[in-house]
Amino acid sequence: MILSAALVVICVLFFLFGGRTYIKRHYQTVHVDRAKETLTEKVDMNGKNGIIIYFTRVGNTNFKENVDAVSSASLMEENGILIGNSELLAEMLENATGYPSYAIRTKKKYSSSYGDTVSEAKKEMDENIPSELENDIPDLSEYDTVVLVYPLWWGTLPMPVQTFLSENDLEGKTVYSLVTHGGSGLKKLPLDGAVSL
Ligand SMILES: Cc1cc2nc3c(=O)[nH]c(=O)nc-3n(C[C@H](O)[C@H](O)[C@H](O)COP(=O)(O)O)c2cc1C
Repeated sequence: MILSAALVVICVLFFLFGGRTYIKRHYQTVHVDRAKETLTEKVDMNGKNGIIIYFTRVGNTNFKENVDAVSSASLMEENGILIGNSELLAEMLENATGYPSYAIRTKKKYSSSYGDTVSEAKKEMDENIPSELENDIPDLSEYDTVVLVYPLWWGTLPMPVQTFLSENDLEGKTVYSLVTHGGSGLKKLPLDGAVSL
């Protein structure tokens, strides 16, 4: 009896001091107003012709229909449509620079579960398995500037981005790289100076 009462008190205290914040952070849906969030100041790109290439989980993942958009899984939604962090950032840059943006799409989709995606990404990086990409990104030869936007995966570039870079020649171009992440630092660049990011 005393033990049960103590347990209830501990649960209430956990919820009041800290637990509620934890639950909110991990299980609250992140709604965004896409038009408002991507309204940006214009950036002068000095007349350079550029393109934005981004990679994000959304569009490369078999999300279950009832997936909830929660911050821990790095998803946002507007009217039931999921939006990736890097996708939203790419849209902001599109408005800021006037450059068109294109998504890197993998043929094989990642699992709906965040944890399984993390394991799948680790395996393909450990075993250096290139991703098979859809070919819907235009020829880059006409662009002077390439803006890459992607999430940090295991401290580095996701394998689909590494594959994209190995399949496209960026020699002589100005490359900007914008990385979204969950707070950890950059581990290493796997491309051994093939491109300066
Ligand atoms: C497979 C995988 C690996 C990740 N590895 C890292 C990491 O090493 N460090 C980090 O800070 N965040 C990591 N994250 C979190 C993402 O970088 C972060 O949530 C990002 O904003 C997601 O962007 P997106 O919504 O465009 O996919 C990882 C996420 C996934 C799915």
